[in-house]
Amino acid sequence: MFYTQVKPNRCFLFLFFLSCLTVTFSQNTLLSYDVVIYGATGSGVIAAVAAAREGTHVALVTDKKHIGGMVSGGLSITDLGNASVIGGYVHEIYRRGGKYYNTSFTWHMEPHIAEKVLNDMVNELGVDVYLSSRLIEKTGVQKQSGKIVSISTENNLTFSGEVFIDATYEGDLMAFAGVSYTYGREAQSQYNEDRAGIRAGIGYSSIILCEHGTESAFFDNGTLLPYVLPQAPGVVGSGDNRTQSYNFRLSLTNNTSNQVPFPKPPNYDPSRYEFLYRSTLAAIKVRGDVGAAHSYFFGNYENYKIDFNDYDTDFVGGNFGYPDGTYAERAVIWQAHVDYLQGMLYFLANDPRLPDDYRATINKWGLSRDEFVDNNNWPPELYVREARRMVGDFVLTQNDVIGNLTQRSKPDSIGLGSYGLDTHPVIMFANENGSLIYEGEVSSESERVHLWKREPYQIPYRTILPKRADATNLLVTVCVSSSHVAYASLRMEPQYMMMGQAAGTAAAFALFNNQAVQDVDVNALMGRLTAQKALLQI
Ligand SMILES: *[C@@H]1O[C@H](CO)[C@@H](O)[C@H](O)[C@H]1NC(C)=O
Ligand SMILES: *[C@@H]1O[C@H](CO)[C@@H](O)[C@H](O)[C@H]1NC(C)=O
Ligand SMILES: *[C@@H]1O[C@H](CO)[C@@H](O)[C@H](O)[C@H]1NC(C)=O
Ligand SMILES: *[C@@H]1O[C@H](CO)[C@@H](O)[C@H](O)[C@H]1NC(C)=O
Ligand SMILES: *[C@@H]1O[C@H](CO)[C@@H](O)[C@H](O)[C@H]1NC(C)=O
Ligand SMILES: *[C@@H]1O[C@H](CO)[C@@H](O)[C@H](O)[C@H]1NC(C)=O
Ligand SMILES: *[C@@H]1O[C@H](CO)[C@@H](O)[C@H](O)[C@H]1NC(C)=O
Ligand SMILES: *[C@@H]1O[C@H](CO)[C@@H](O)[C@H](O)[C@H]1NC(C)=O
Ligand SMILES: *[C@@H]1O[C@H](CO)[C@@H](O)[C@H](O)[C@H]1NC(C)=O
Repeated sequence: MFYTQVKPNRCFLFLFFLSCLTVTFSQNTLLSYDVVIYGATGSGVIAAVAAAREGTHVALVTDKKHIGGMVSGGLSITDLGNASVIGGYVHEIYRRGGKYYNTSFTWHMEPHIAEKVLNDMVNELGVDVYLSSRLIEKTGVQKQSGKIVSISTENNLTFSGEVFIDATYEGDLMAFAGVSYTYGREAQSQYNEDRAGIRAGIGYSSIILCEHGTESAFFDNGTLLPYVLPQAPGVVGSGDNRTQSYNFRLSLTNNTSNQVPFPKPPNYDPSRYEFLYRSTLAAIKVRGDVGAAHSYFFGNYENYKIDFNDYDTDFVGGNFGYPDGTYAERAVIWQAHVDYLQGMLYFLANDPRLPDDYRATINKWGLSRDEFVDNNNWPPELYVREARRMVGDFVLTQNDVIGNLTQRSKPDSIGLGSYGLDTHPVIMFANENGSLIYEGEVSSESERVHLWKREPYQIPYRTILPKRADATNLLVTVCVSSSHVAYASLRMEPQYMMMGQAAGTAAAFALFNNQAVQDVDVNALMGRLTAQKALLQI
């Protein structure tokens, strides 16, 4: 493995000696806090802010090198739904963001600005942030009589606390603590949801065509395209363990002085993009080279940047095994997503079969040089749209989200949701006629046109509560207790952050009243959240 010989010098040996000392020391490092939050997603950050503002001593612990999750990780076109439902500390982030642009407010910060805003908030409050501190796999959680006592990380830190919050996208703290969870899709019969389980699917459509075609699922030589199932994935309405696809939310720019060309991944294979090639040719016929290329570059925000995101960027069928996978399995899946999306962009920008004008238009864009600077301008967050979901005593389901007013109303509201049901494709398959079908969408065609126009619903405190028997001092703010269908709406960053605000505040209640999280007085909690300008009523 070593191609060049490294001669250790004195300085090297000295550093080595120092690090040995650190090891011995850090093995015994026990840190004591009131509230320990694992996962510095936007939700984790807001949970930390809320807990600290209530006067608790907070540790914010993350396996990542940055805080903010997708909020600072490329998701710059914030999924608002009905923006009027977003208040409290979540709204504050975007007011603070506005200051960086000399406006009073912006929903669309650049990733590096979002990270600054979130860092400002935790630093002002003296929250201790532990970066690059991953929970020890499986055995990292110490529990005693139904309570989490401490968590230990791979860098030899142990955090003891009174209340813990899992704000990760994966739910590792929850899972390693033995809390009940699920992943994949429930059957329709489980919670009586007519959108649940395996769906019928729709003809593949690229964003550049916006119509559902009957593209073939096969190469011209009759071989099935990669990652396409030879038949439907199962009976419509039955459950499975697959989940909607992931991508990265890229920051691209057409500002040539702030641009890095699309990189070529080491194992680039243009045949993986055959369906894209065909739909691109079809789009060029309709719109011309330049028009077809342009249709990718929407979602503008500050400084000539776009938040590159659409179905074509999803690695459909590439994430099975991620939600409940080991760290090592997830790392492989993560890299496969990098390769897929880098390959896709490289393909559009360079494939010699695509017209010159088309490629030239694609090549007006590149990765933003001033974003994700320690990660080759590539987002450090995989967009994990859905992974594990806790199973609490209460599970939020379809009618709670899209039912009538009575069904959408809750006595223990901690925030509001409003986004339409939005799942990305789960799998591609070949139907009986050999056409390529995207399966997984839970909304109807007409709903998708008005995705953000759903009537608001109340998010109950029970959604972030584990069963009492599972843990009495844990709150979960991302991998919450929701069915796959309800999660299609609930999974938006503003809602994760609202639940973070509620969890941080509830943690302080539990701490100061020496209560189980299940015993927190919800009316008092709602009063406190309202005083924090959170919006709870519909
Ligand atoms: C905001 O205003 C300050 C002071 O006038 C200026 O220095 C800064 O460049 C402005 N920032 C932006 C993003 O326009
Ligand atoms: C943690 O302790 C282990 C076991 O002694 C050691 O191998 C490792 O280098 C330590 N890591 C850090 C970051 O201190
Ligand atoms: C069919 O074509 C694809 C794409 O070129 C290739 O990967 C595959 O190996 C071919 N299959 C056969 C059986 O030749
Ligand atoms: C970059 O794209 C935006 C629209 O997304 C456009 O307004 C702007 O003129 C473009 N700039 C350049 C340098 O092409
Ligand atoms: C383009 O990028 C350069 C270098 O980062 C920057 O100075 C300039 O302000 C950018 N232009 C626009 C319009 O964003
Ligand atoms: C999903 O379920 C299938 C069928 O039971 C099984 O073969 C597969 O290993 C499961 N995959 C995961 C990732 O759990
Ligand atoms: C809402 O739906 C439930 C369940 O279908 C029904 O019992 C109730 O009467 C409805 N309420 C209103 C106000 O329509
Ligand atoms: C397959 O093609 C036949 C004949 O055109 C059509 O009637 C049928 O609906 C198609 N099946 C599907 C699943 O699209
Ligand atoms: C958006 O939310 C606000 C606040 O809850 C509500 O008053 C308004 O009716 C909602 N709009 C729609 C279209 O549902």
